[in-house]
Amino acid sequence: MSAQPFTLRWGVIATGWISQQFVKDALMDPATRDVHDVKHVVTAVGSRNVDSAKKFIETYAKGDSGIKAYGTYDEVYADANVDAVYIGTPHTFHYENARNALLHGKHVLCEKATTSNAAELRDLLKLAKEKNLFFMEALWTRFQPLVQEIKRIAEDGSLGLPVVLHADLSGDFDVENIPKTHRILDPKLGGGALLDLGPYPMVWAVMFLYEHPANKKARPTSITGSILKTPLTGVDSSTSFTLTFSETLQAQAVLSCSITLPSPDPAVTIRYRGGNILVHPPIYKPPSFTVQYFDKPGSGNVVREETRKGTIPGGGWHYQTDEVARCIRDGKIESEVWSHDKSLLLMDVFDAVRKQGGYELPEGVEKLR
Ligand SMILES: NC(=O)c1ccc[n+]([C@@H]2O[C@H](COP(=O)([O-])OP(=O)(O)OC[C@H]3O[C@@H](n4cnc5c(N)ncnc54)[C@H](OP(=O)(O)O)[C@@H]3O)[C@@H](O)[C@H]2O)c1
Repeated sequence: MSAQPFTLRWGVIATGWISQQFVKDALMDPATRDVHDVKHVVTAVGSRNVDSAKKFIETYAKGDSGIKAYGTYDEVYADANVDAVYIGTPHTFHYENARNALLHGKHVLCEKATTSNAAELRDLLKLAKEKNLFFMEALWTRFQPLVQEIKRIAEDGSLGLPVVLHADLSGDFDVENIPKTHRILDPKLGGGALLDLGPYPMVWAVMFLYEHPANKKARPTSITGSILKTPLTGVDSSTSFTLTFSETLQAQAVLSCSITLPSPDPAVTIRYRGGNILVHPPIYKPPSFTVQYFDKPGSGNVVREETRKGTIPGGGWHYQTDEVARCIRDGKIESEVWSHDKSLLLMDVFDAVRKQGGYELPEGVEKLR
């Protein structure tokens, strides 16, 4: 007889778009993705409005009467039937929400961008360690099967070492026609391209440069950034940034994001002397990728090209959710796959780019500096 799966009991903070996707995926039968060792239940949903929490449970959890609907987030943190809290509020609330969850003894899965700045994240990680609680940024792309396949090819040596990685995530948010209070435009909510879309070009730089075994976990030796602000509210409408890895690798990442136009195709290109890896958009959940092999290093003469496609049951957020359950089951406070150092690298890069681009969040938004 096989062992019973480990069941993780989730409390959900906020009832917006991403919380809906998170819950739909978490409640799917794990067998549909061939997972049999862990499963998820939702035991509490917190919203600023209890009716919104009730409607959320009706719509996304089949009205399950076993799930508590709360009109405050605090009641979720205090609920003894919650093991782990999922945080789906706008970025600028993540620090306060995650801190409160940890102070109540709950493990945390926190949406990207993890916090408003690196100082807030360092404080959260310190608290999680002191309390021996699990904390992870919800960088779901890192856990998708097709992405693991690309990593295997990138690290098998057939292309050589990475030299230049280009990655872009853009989306047309119709900024002229949405309210200025929308979280993508409102500086009080950390609006703009960098904090919302920037984590995705960054995850590709982390996966293919920072995580490359030859990099030996060296951080970039230089970070440069340039910001184009929208006159609408002063948040960044397009941001370009580069990371140079010169300590161990000899490689650069050229990254960009924008809230006013669609992504290019390919949206990630990883260039090696032996060939290229081209990843098709959207880069948060790529549907396919192409590997081009050159006849000899540096020639640019493509002699073989292979394209692979992937399909994912549901939305694809559940792979990260399974990782959280396994880590908590095994008594870990950090995922080895999307570890704390990577989330910190993202926030340090965003801080540096915002500083160079002159994008300051309004007074009082950053709780620590
Ligand atoms: N991983 C991904 O694929 C992905 C995709 C999209 C977004 N995200 C991240 O998820 C977070 C939320 O994004 P979203 O698209 O879900 O946003 P959203 O639809 O606007 O939902 C945000 C929710 O946060 C709560 N909230 C608390 N204080 C708020 C305030 N002052 N203003 C607005 N909402 C407030 C609200 O829930 P209640 O009313 O119930 O309290 C609201 O519904 C962001 O950090 C974003 O970067 C991740």
